Amino acid sequence: MTEHLILLAPSANRVYGAEAPRLCEAELRAMAAGFGLPEPDVARTDVAGVSYLALHTSGVLTDAAVRVVSQLSAAHALFRREGDLLAPVALEQPRAAYPGDLVTIQKYQGKTNEQWTRLLLNVTAAATRLPDRLLDGSLQVFDPMCGRGTTLNIALSLGLDSIGVDLDSKDFQAYSAFLKTWMRQHRLKHTADESALRTSGRNRGKRLQVEVAASKEAHKAADTQHLTYLLTDTTDLDGLVRPRSVDAIVTDTPYGVQHGSHGDRLARSPLELLDRALPGWLRTLRTGGAVGLSYNRHVAPREDLAALLVTHGLDPVDETPDAFRHRVDASIDRDLIVARKAR
Ligand SMILES: C[S@@+](CC[C@H](N)C(=O)[O-])C[C@H]1O[C@@H](n2cnc3c(N)ncnc32)[C@H](O)[C@@H]1O
Repeated sequence: MTEHLILLAPSANRVYGAEAPRLCEAELRAMAAGFGLPEPDVARTDVAGVSYLALHTSGVLTDAAVRVVSQLSAAHALFRREGDLLAPVALEQPRAAYPGDLVTIQKYQGKTNEQWTRLLLNVTAAATRLPDRLLDGSLQVFDPMCGRGTTLNIALSLGLDSIGVDLDSKDFQAYSAFLKTWMRQHRLKHTADESALRTSGRNRGKRLQVEVAASKEAHKAADTQHLTYLLTDTTDLDGLVRPRSVDAIVTDTPYGVQHGSHGDRLARSPLELLDRALPGWLRTLRTGGAVGLSYNRHVAPREDLAALLVTHGLDPVDETPDAFRHRVDASIDRDLIVARKAR
């Protein structure tokens, strides 16, 4: 029996407190299932007062398993246990080496925690028919309520192309300004174009279109990432996002707290908004793609959300009940739900 210890990033404890190892364990289980690995034998353990997630295997840890562990939102370091000693095992680095401050530097009220967003992207990508796209850089990510772009930044930092939509012009302007400044400050070769969004003479909002490379070498090799942010209503995407072009729809739904959906009747629960938006979102999703939603159980009961996804032709992924549920504060009981588009 071989034992590996996964050291969790300290930031995971700041986000989830004592729940971090449990959530990471659930993430590892979901990832292993999606990537076709054997069900992991994991347990929480303490070594010299430090908490780890222990992973037991009958033989050596396969390269495929190391690749998956490397993706975990909270994985900080990996060790093989040899008696009293810990031997470091290198985690796989993202294929596009963007400066790490991309996802952490923006601070604003209503920002979705970046670790949770990464977890949501991971488990959603793992539920798609081609999860390897997360690793080889070909997964196309869509956040249809992207705010100031946490999902877009995470996708970019993983070398993935992404599309975001939001209706809030302050968020659009703030994100556009942030990303342009960040790319300039890091001297990254890029183009960034902002234009009016019009179809058939109808004004639909604005578009930010970015192409960027992580290094001069990547730019020379035409290894670039594309990011599009549309300032428009997510319930009316007709003609704006190419049908069947995305693999993973990942979004943090309005919590009915700081944000609230737009429109009075939608102010607390996002269910009505989702009901109106899902047909358009699902047209953009490839067959075999998946939708991952982060939501507040106080404003959207899980059964109602699961039933809504089924109504829209999706197959919710079975997971251990409450595997990802955790308390953020008195008003937010956060959870996620993932569903596949089988047809
Ligand atoms: C929880 S926030 C997302 C925050 C984002 N993940 C971030 O970290 O910046 C939900 C977002 O949904 C957006 N939203 C609500 N209704 C919308 C609609 N009809 N069309 C587009 N965006 C909408 C809000 O403007 C808000 O930015």
